[in-house]
Amino acid sequence: MSMYDPQYKEIREMVSKFADSEVAPIAAKIDHDGEIPKDLIKKLYENGFMGSYIPEELGGAGMDYMSYAIIVEEISRGCASTGVLISAHTSLAMWPILNFGTDAQKKKYLPGMAGGNVIGCFCLSEPNAGSDPGTLTTFAEDKGDHFVLSGTKNYITNGRDAGVAIVMAKTEKSSDHKGVTAFIVETKTEGFHVQKLEDKLGIKGSTTAQIWLDKVKVPKENVLGELGKGFKVALSTLDGGRIGIAAQALGIAEAAFRYAKKYSTQRIQFGKPISELQAIQFMLADMSTAIAASRLLIAHASYLKDNKLPYSKEAAQAKLFASESCMHITTKAIQVLGGNGYTKEYPVERHFRDAKITEIYEGTSEIQRIVIAANELKNL
Ligand code: CAA
Repeated sequence: MSMYDPQYKEIREMVSKFADSEVAPIAAKIDHDGEIPKDLIKKLYENGFMGSYIPEELGGAGMDYMSYAIIVEEISRGCASTGVLISAHTSLAMWPILNFGTDAQKKKYLPGMAGGNVIGCFCLSEPNAGSDPGTLTTFAEDKGDHFVLSGTKNYITNGRDAGVAIVMAKTEKSSDHKGVTAFIVETKTEGFHVQKLEDKLGIKGSTTAQIWLDKVKVPKENVLGELGKGFKVALSTLDGGRIGIAAQALGIAEAAFRYAKKYSTQRIQFGKPISELQAIQFMLADMSTAIAASRLLIAHASYLKDNKLPYSKEAAQAKLFASESCMHITTKAIQVLGGNGYTKEYPVERHFRDAKITEIYEGTSEIQRIVIAANELKNL
């Protein structure tokens, strides 16, 4: 199905209404309080936004990835913290269970995560393993019918509130990615500790936790995918996650653009609205073009994923372009508002702070360029 199919327009209208009425009005408060209200999270579940991509028989809404990306974009337009709650939960925690899990794992975990208020998180990064995750040192010791996981995981989105965590740990000692295994870990298990919460520049309503795994017992049936093949689980999960972050960046950019555009028609300088000045018009034109291009790249990567075609490069391109555009657009939105844009009375300073992380998490812009170049160079 193409991105122009009317079903996507309908989904966008539905989510857009929700974002305008339930999310955007409290986004400044979420940013200020550093907390997404539980009541809003409940509504996200009730509307099917937390389980959009999960098949109906597993408790989800049975939508495709294109629809999921629209949901993340529209919710992020309302509030970037709420957008990444959905994105990390869906792409990084539920998708690997759906794609690599056994039937028993899917039936055990996905209904609760899709519709039963169980939040998911993804534990790959460590204090000394960020862009180079193959060097992670969390170890899973084989104890016969279970493993015992020990280590520290960093920058875990949803880490404080998750009920289910996808955890990457080594089941063989190695200095590179070999021997990494993925596990489904229930966070209520003894030894799963939220060690600290990060105080961040933006997406302040999204919790970012350091997790200490202190001899966490995980049954053998919770190995996700094959033993020793967890690096592939992690990297292919991130391929899909990057489409979600691109959609989050697009939502933030759209919010900043809409605000700046409207403001420019109301702000009078030199005896006329500043929207009549070509300097402002050119900024708006560039913002509009980058937003349109981001949306097309996201739709293209989603289309490939939905049609089971390779999408690693295209997901990286969507994330790279949408996140760097978002940073530029939010910078220019402040410029359009001038001094007002720099104050907390106006929302564009929040959009600017929220934008920066999209160039960093789920692979920095430099990592996206590595992925894109590697894919190009293998096709000579
Ligand atoms: N899908 C599946 N497998 C893949 C893959 C992909 N996209 N890319 C590579 N692989 C496989 C390779 O085929 C190879 O397999 P073999 O051992 O069987 O040959 C293996 O993985 C290693 O490949 P590379 O040698 O290319 O791996 P590398 O270690 O050099 O890494 C990299 C490449 C692109 C730099 C990768 O490490 C990477 O993406 N780094 C960034 C990590 C990242 O995004 N971290 C974000 C963490 S999540 C987060 O942000 C927190 C949050 O909660 C939001």
